[in-house]
Amino acid sequence: MARVTVFASGNGSNFEAIVKALQGTSHRVVCLISDNEKAYALDRARRLQVPYHVFPFRTKTERRDSEEKILNLLRSYGTDFIALAGFMKLLSPLLIDAYPNRIVNIHPSLLPKYPGTQGIRDSYLSGDRELGITIHYVDYGLDTGPIIAQRSFHRIGTETIEEIEEKIHALEHEVYPKVLIDLLDALEQNK
Ligand code: GRF
Repeated sequence: MARVTVFASGNGSNFEAIVKALQGTSHRVVCLISDNEKAYALDRARRLQVPYHVFPFRTKTERRDSEEKILNLLRSYGTDFIALAGFMKLLSPLLIDAYPNRIVNIHPSLLPKYPGTQGIRDSYLSGDRELGITIHYVDYGLDTGPIIAQRSFHRIGTETIEEIEEKIHALEHEVYPKVLIDLLDALEQNK
């Protein structure tokens, strides 16, 4: 069994999709970490009975202190793998180096196009015909790590941004858990 900790700052729909998908496997989401005490992801965690912890990340000092505490917590949960799912803060080398090739992120654009917090809006406004999502390893940069998987779709051109957003999220919920399960299976086999 691989133990996964998910990081989320907001809605947490990907967090929930991951928890549910892993219930059908030998792997488990052992805990949720957030930087936002008002995140709806925390309500989902309560409902799904996943333990959660909130740490502030507002300044560099807070981030350093929080990451030190998070590292201890991850060890106490026996975390093998970290999945970022709408976590809106950059992690520092302290955490990233503690989990080499074991931290992944989901981004709502076809990276390297449209990194950053406005991936859906920027994709939509680009006029690109092909839109999609990316799952990638996390490195020190903003949405820059090696790409693991991408899925795309063609837009008709008449969709509203809300419709595009809905399509992107549906694709995320379908693909992210699957890719994660493949990575966790591989991790287990190499243990
Ligand atoms: C997703 O679109 C993800 O790609 C991006 O943040 C959003 C999180 O959505 N990184 P949710 O919190 O999982 O609903």
